[in-house]
Amino acid sequence: MSDRRQSAVRPAVSELLHRDSIFTPPSLANRLVSCLRVRSVNVVADFAAGAGALLDAAQSRWPTSRIFATDIDRAQLRTLRRDRPAWITANCDFLNERSRRRVLGLDAFKGNVDAVLLNPPFSCIGATTISISVSGRGLRGSKAGAFVVLATEYLRKGGELVAIVPSSFLTSEKDHAFRQHLAEIGTLDEIDSSCGADFESVTLHAAMIRFRKGKPAAVPDPIRVTPSASLLSARLNCSIVRGVQQIHSLNNSGVAFRFAHSTELRDEGIIPRVERVRPSTRSVLGPALLLPRVGAVTPQKLAVLARGRVVLSDCVIALQCDSTAVCQELKARLLANWDLFFKAYAGTGARYITISRLKALLGTLGVVAVSAQPDQAPHADQRAFQTGGRYA
Ligand SMILES: C[S@@+](CC[C@H](N)C(=O)[O-])C[C@H]1O[C@@H](n2cnc3c(N)ncnc32)[C@H](O)[C@@H]1O
Repeated sequence: MSDRRQSAVRPAVSELLHRDSIFTPPSLANRLVSCLRVRSVNVVADFAAGAGALLDAAQSRWPTSRIFATDIDRAQLRTLRRDRPAWITANCDFLNERSRRRVLGLDAFKGNVDAVLLNPPFSCIGATTISISVSGRGLRGSKAGAFVVLATEYLRKGGELVAIVPSSFLTSEKDHAFRQHLAEIGTLDEIDSSCGADFESVTLHAAMIRFRKGKPAAVPDPIRVTPSASLLSARLNCSIVRGVQQIHSLNNSGVAFRFAHSTELRDEGIIPRVERVRPSTRSVLGPALLLPRVGAVTPQKLAVLARGRVVLSDCVIALQCDSTAVCQELKARLLANWDLFFKAYAGTGARYITISRLKALLGTLGVVAVSAQPDQAPHADQRAFQTGGRYA
């Protein structure tokens, strides 16, 4: 098939993303449905039903269940009504309270649904948030998060929701209030951290979650992490310094300093380059453990700066320690708990770690991390007069 022909048949990924219509392939829909542990299932709902992939999988598992499907897309709804006449369907902008109120009978489902399935729209760029009201309380977060939280209102006690969500939903500050709410009314579990690869047309940073309503976990911690116990013996301290110098703002003016971007963290060491920056730009004085803030983190990128001062790009974070021995111990704890550390780099586009996620993770590894005071300006005597040279 020619490229032109193919693009006529299959909408471009950007177009699909724009319409929030990346439908779930049947194999993934079946896997999602198989994760539901509810015993008795009479009513199943999907409030962003699309072509009905998730509900089809549910119907195969529970053939006699009542199926309730809503979607904002009228054309999609017409197709569903034609092809699945037994389902109860409604056109509804689920994020809009007035639209929900207009759907006759929707209220009757509140607190009565046994299983909710969702692959909600993901598009919610940057700091954009959606405000919703649940149980008379105002909450804010991502669009996908708002779908999940609003959908839980329809679950009966003991009912479960399974959903494909942007990976960032589990860790982002943006969705903190939503996760907190869910932790107060039930138990939230991550059941697959990387199901995005299962989509045929596009790779998404997506995770599968399961939420059970009622009997919240004793500690309202939405995601449970279990670091290896042997590493928790000695308490360590460090100060976190987040770089600020943007690469695209380097313009060859200012004073020459040793400089570390994430590309300078190589083979477990640092090979700093020299850049001209404003003398007040934030830097770090070794001993420190440097790690990328944005992008792919690998064990080779955990680099110990034994001594000397380097200016940090905004893609690098430094953990300043009292000695190189502490740096090495800190690095060993991160390597021994790599899965947890790797997962802390979340985000639907580029993966990144936030300072609060890093602090929380370090806390579970017995490391007390505080943000360094902003007194990190490089001093004249530490200017870089030479390039290259491995620091550790
Ligand atoms: C990612 S698709 C998933 C469809 C289907 N559940 C599946 O898994 O294949 C998301 C669906 O959400 C619908 N949608 C987007 N915004 C919506 C809104 N505010 N209210 C209800 N549905 C919405 C889109 O029309 C689309 O069908």
